[in-house]
Amino acid sequence: MRKLNSSQLRELYLKFFQARGHAVIHSASLIPENDPTVLFTTAGMHPLVPYLLGEKHPNGTRLTDVQKCVRTGDIDEVGDATHCTFFEMLGNWSLGDYFKKEAIAWSFEFLTSPEYLGIDVDHLAVSVFAGDEDAPRDEESAKLWEACGLPKERIFYLPKKNNWWGPAGQTGPCGPDTEMFIDTGKPKCCEECSPACDCGKYIEIWNDVFMQYNKTAEGTFEPLKQKNVDTGMGLERTICILNDVKSVYDTDLFTEALALIAEYSGKTYGESEAVTKAFRIIADHVRTAAFIIGDDRGVTPSNVDQGYVLRRLIRRAVRYGRQIGLRRGSLSLIADSYIQKYAEVYPEMVHNRDRVLDEINKEEERFIKTVSMGLKEFEKIASSLDGTFIDGKTAFRLYDTFGFPIEMTVELAKERGLTVDEEGFAKAFAEHQQKSHAGSEQRFKGGLADASEQTAKLHTATHLLQAMLRKVLGDEVKQKGSNITAERLRFDFSFGRPMTEEEVREVERLVNEAIAEGAEVTCEEMSVEEAKKKGAIGLFESKYGERVKVYTMGRFSCEICGGPHAKNLSSLGHFRIVKEQSSSAGVRRIKAVLE
Ligand code: ALA
Repeated sequence: MRKLNSSQLRELYLKFFQARGHAVIHSASLIPENDPTVLFTTAGMHPLVPYLLGEKHPNGTRLTDVQKCVRTGDIDEVGDATHCTFFEMLGNWSLGDYFKKEAIAWSFEFLTSPEYLGIDVDHLAVSVFAGDEDAPRDEESAKLWEACGLPKERIFYLPKKNNWWGPAGQTGPCGPDTEMFIDTGKPKCCEECSPACDCGKYIEIWNDVFMQYNKTAEGTFEPLKQKNVDTGMGLERTICILNDVKSVYDTDLFTEALALIAEYSGKTYGESEAVTKAFRIIADHVRTAAFIIGDDRGVTPSNVDQGYVLRRLIRRAVRYGRQIGLRRGSLSLIADSYIQKYAEVYPEMVHNRDRVLDEINKEEERFIKTVSMGLKEFEKIASSLDGTFIDGKTAFRLYDTFGFPIEMTVELAKERGLTVDEEGFAKAFAEHQQKSHAGSEQRFKGGLADASEQTAKLHTATHLLQAMLRKVLGDEVKQKGSNITAERLRFDFSFGRPMTEEEVREVERLVNEAIAEGAEVTCEEMSVEEAKKKGAIGLFESKYGERVKVYTMGRFSCEICGGPHAKNLSSLGHFRIVKEQSSSAGVRRIKAVLE
């Protein structure tokens, strides 16, 4: 096995696939565009959904990239050896181009060839789809692995629960996959031990998904227009395996951050389990926060959506920082070390550096203030207590309103000879989680990211809206977020004050005037430079000389965008702004419909 560091692995991966006809594209934003079903980009395929569904990609049918991803579902697991809330996914795609044969042969070559990862074939195991009523048993993949030299006993047939990937949201492209594992050489945990167990014998390293189905809102799987390949290899985990270190935190990606945490806390990483966990949580959460704020569509801490996740991450880092005596104001310095570490791969972090440091500092201060208010509240509770017992509901209120973790409440109580109903707290906590879980499911039910005609029309209307906002309010207006369901569009943009009623009506009128002219919507492919020259607006995130699509809507709008869009403006119908409101500091939000 070759001991590659993170930069070497990124470079080697992209080069390997570039040499096999893949265009290298830049990581898309962490904040998904036009997709109401997820808060963050969670996989390399996510920004490519329209192309997996059949939309033409300007860089061809073979792509490769390293995608920034955030997954917060396992936030409570962070601190162990493998979990991170931010990670990078190396991936390659066939958009209706090659299929199983090439995908498996290339995966095998990259993993085992001494020029690439140099993993011993004897240490590899794979799984393939066992088949069910939705898709057949994947004997083809198994045969292809055998042809590469993998013995039958290390090819496992597993059911949908293990060997099916996607969709990323509630609907969209998905399919059976074949997963690759390192066999650590540990003894089997039981007779049936397989990569499906979590006994630690097998560690997943790569996943090739054969995306040939579209999951519909009704839960059925219909064949896609084209057969795609979507692969994903976790960068952190792979360098951890290659370097044979204990955890992802012991890889080069975290060296500087962990050293700074040690310097600003006076503690040593590894000195105790609790200290190690705190170091890892701080290192992870600060990195994720820096990436969320430092994105070109970056958000700031708030009480909704991505802003809320960001707030939780920063506050959790502050809390664990307190546990190890981390100096106030250190988080932004740790964030700065990440900005330097990632500067070359993600230049947007450097452009947005001031915002990253400033927002992290401000949120830390806000949290410290909340906690000190919570301490006053605690004193009040303690002094007015009838007896020596703090009930679960009260402990939960301290947690929910003032961010007091239960351990903190218990500790404060102990100092005063009081006890806390921890069980009652756990119950209140579980109830709350259930409610918010139900809330998020609700939210996903309403609008689904699909490629329906109606969402395409709303997407086109969004371009017109941005153009007219710029006309009426000036070039200060820049897109901060877009979220489209089949019912409405939602558009966030930078602007320093509420719009007046006249401005809202004027924008609405101009959009309807443009619709009435009935211009064709045209799409051209060009280089980023050409798009700039043409005066197109949008994110110019390109490092690799990629080609982009530019959508033009008559004389009104010219924007870099992946599509899809309506063919002609006249099909849009009547545009109406339903609401104009604040989204966060300096950002306004418009909700609008087509009738
Ligand atoms: N989309 C696949 C994954 O995330 C490759 O594992």
